[in-house]
Amino acid sequence: MAKVTIDGIEIDVPDGTTILQAARMIGPEVAPPTMCYHSKLKTSGGYCRTCLVEVTKGSEKDPRPMPKLVASCRTNVMDGMVVTNGLSEKVQDARAGVVEFLLLNHPLDCPICDQAGECHLQDLSYEHGHYNTRTDFERRTFEKIDIGDTIQLHMTRCILCYRCVKVAEQITDGRVHGVINRGDASEISTYIKEAIDNDFSGNMIDVCPVGALTDKTFRFKSRVWFTKPVDAHRDCDKCSGKVVLWYKGDDVLRVTGRKDQWGEVEEFICNTCRFDKKKTSDWTIEGVREISRHSVISANKYKKLVKPKRLTINDIKALPE
Ligand code: SF4
Ligand code: FES
Repeated sequence: MAKVTIDGIEIDVPDGTTILQAARMIGPEVAPPTMCYHSKLKTSGGYCRTCLVEVTKGSEKDPRPMPKLVASCRTNVMDGMVVTNGLSEKVQDARAGVVEFLLLNHPLDCPICDQAGECHLQDLSYEHGHYNTRTDFERRTFEKIDIGDTIQLHMTRCILCYRCVKVAEQITDGRVHGVINRGDASEISTYIKEAIDNDFSGNMIDVCPVGALTDKTFRFKSRVWFTKPVDAHRDCDKCSGKVVLWYKGDDVLRVTGRKDQWGEVEEFICNTCRFDKKKTSDWTIEGVREISRHSVISANKYKKLVKPKRLTINDIKALPE
């Protein structure tokens, strides 16, 4: 076991735990934001730098601070480590820089983007970004690509988090995906089109943190905050059959996997459940979905809203010795 202190809160975690996982064990008030890490996808993380934290004490054995901010999703805790996240000015500055960087090429088209309301980049920029941009350059643009009948890739919005690539690699058969080119010429390759025949390709939509991969059967049908999420399940021979149905009136507008409080899919679902079962009679309804993620999606009628509170210096002073 290792003892680690994050923003003044101490926790014992098993060896091999990352700083991010340890912070999540404490709770959303100290957990760094993430864009590319996904707990159900192996080797995810390490691409976006959103989760940077400051290590002010390396360990009990070697208490020197780490010279640079580190990606918490890729750095393991050491016994005696002390980490600052929300309380570190360096981290806040760096994170604002990461937001600015991610938005260099991301269009500000939230009013017409289907992901609005459940977009991690939208939330990240509200919480950690600056209100203006310094860039004078044109953002790069791409033609939209249909990935089969049900998924559309709008590469213009992609932030190259690699999550869909990991899904294609780990959840679908065969390696038929990838990011091609480097630097500002990088793009999710059209190889990804080949993944369409796979029963699990729809999960790419659920893991995409922005509006780059969207469900063509749902596009432009409704703003997500006008829909009502309901937990439901069915007997499925391909997946767990545990989903969320998104209702508008009596109509199921879309079916998605269930996401945890970090916005990450709990169990991947098959394309049959996602695209072919859009009648209430296909499902056993469990009840209203509790959305606990801090987002506009949690607004209004949703049962549960947990708004993560960032710790302030006064909170820290109030902690027991
Ligand atoms: S398409 Fe979405 S999931 Fe895939 S790399 Fe781009 S932002 Fe990430
Ligand atoms: S979440 Fe850690 S680098 Fe992206």
